[in-house]
Amino acid sequence: MGKMTLSGKGRRWLLNGHPWIYADDVADGEGTPGELVPVHAPQGELLGWALFSAESKIALRMVTREEQQPNREFWLGRMQRAIQARINLGMLEPEGACRLISGDAEGVPGLIVDRYGATLVLQIGTQAAERMRDFFVEVLLEVLPFEAAAVLERSDLSVRRLEGLEPRVELLSGAIDGPIQVQESGGLIYQVDVREGHKTGAYLDMSENRVRAAALRPTGRVLDTFAYDGLFGIRAALAGAEEVLCLEQNAAACERIRVNSELSGVADRVKVERVDCMKDLRSRAEAKEVWDTIIVDPPAFARNKREKRGAERGYVELNRRAMLLAAKGGHLVSASCSHAIYASEFLGHLASAARVSRRDTMLEAFTGASPDHPVRLGLPESDYLKCAFLRVT
Ligand SMILES: C[S@@+](CC[C@H](N)C(=O)[O-])C[C@H]1O[C@@H](n2cnc3c(N)ncnc32)[C@H](O)[C@@H]1O
Repeated sequence: MGKMTLSGKGRRWLLNGHPWIYADDVADGEGTPGELVPVHAPQGELLGWALFSAESKIALRMVTREEQQPNREFWLGRMQRAIQARINLGMLEPEGACRLISGDAEGVPGLIVDRYGATLVLQIGTQAAERMRDFFVEVLLEVLPFEAAAVLERSDLSVRRLEGLEPRVELLSGAIDGPIQVQESGGLIYQVDVREGHKTGAYLDMSENRVRAAALRPTGRVLDTFAYDGLFGIRAALAGAEEVLCLEQNAAACERIRVNSELSGVADRVKVERVDCMKDLRSRAEAKEVWDTIIVDPPAFARNKREKRGAERGYVELNRRAMLLAAKGGHLVSASCSHAIYASEFLGHLASAARVSRRDTMLEAFTGASPDHPVRLGLPESDYLKCAFLRVT
């Protein structure tokens, strides 16, 4: 078995609470790729157990600070506590969808598992999760309170390159014939393309924010930009919006917006346009269009610290355009999924947008991801999603 000894800096970093140790902070050690290794302080004291990557800058991901080596019971317990949390949250209705295992944030480094009905979709992001894949699936199926109809591995994340892993998509069990249909509260019915769709097929992290946006009672015109499968817009229509326009550039997603509007019974009030939202919003602002509720949920503008400056300009300009479009007293729901941009920074960008658009803007609520995507305290990287609910006057 391998063994790792930290530098003094690595030890201090670990004791400060962060569960990742960078390769530079490992003074000495050996391990095979993806191995579970004991982690020691420079003086030899055992600090806990971590999963090792021989490729990534993140060399060690701590799984426990206890002395006892994690065994099958340990991982069963870890999966069980994640599943129990979803049961407690009321997220396991048979037709629904949610994240079951949220990777590092939930103490299972490198493993994401989402559920669409009885279909499980997993993503493996590290050498260790790659090595433990079959074991993780076996343990998860043991604690799952329902029978999985199919298990699909969607390990086509770009971050796998950092771990020296090739992309892989593989059906591990069962059969998947076409899109999966999901039903949520309030009559929302939608299709998920688990093989080709973004992430594992849907943006589950936005589920609660969509419900919150619908609770604004959008009775007038709603503009859902960067709409993906249109779920913000369709929820708004279900909540009573007279007219919803979804803007999205991905052709397959646009088609699903049409299908989802039909399934949810609001196709008469939901329109779709396939456009580049950045350009389209500028034209609409120049044309002085007015919308009662605007959703702005773009892809991450900053994927790392180097991209922050450009991202700031993007967020300010995008939200300036959206604020110009807002009716007096209307709402803007504005999100950022850039983990490199802190909540306070995003609020600063929104304040800049309000200043340059000359619109008085009130922050009514500021949220993160749905609770099945928990933030692990001490791991700021897991706190990526910001969603501001703004009233524009
Ligand atoms: C974060 S996702 C939106 C998720 C969606 N709001 C939901 O609740 O499911 C961002 C979406 O923006 C789309 N997109 C990216 N760049 C775009 C652009 N310039 N114009 C239009 N859509 C774009 C992507 O295809 C993706 O569907």
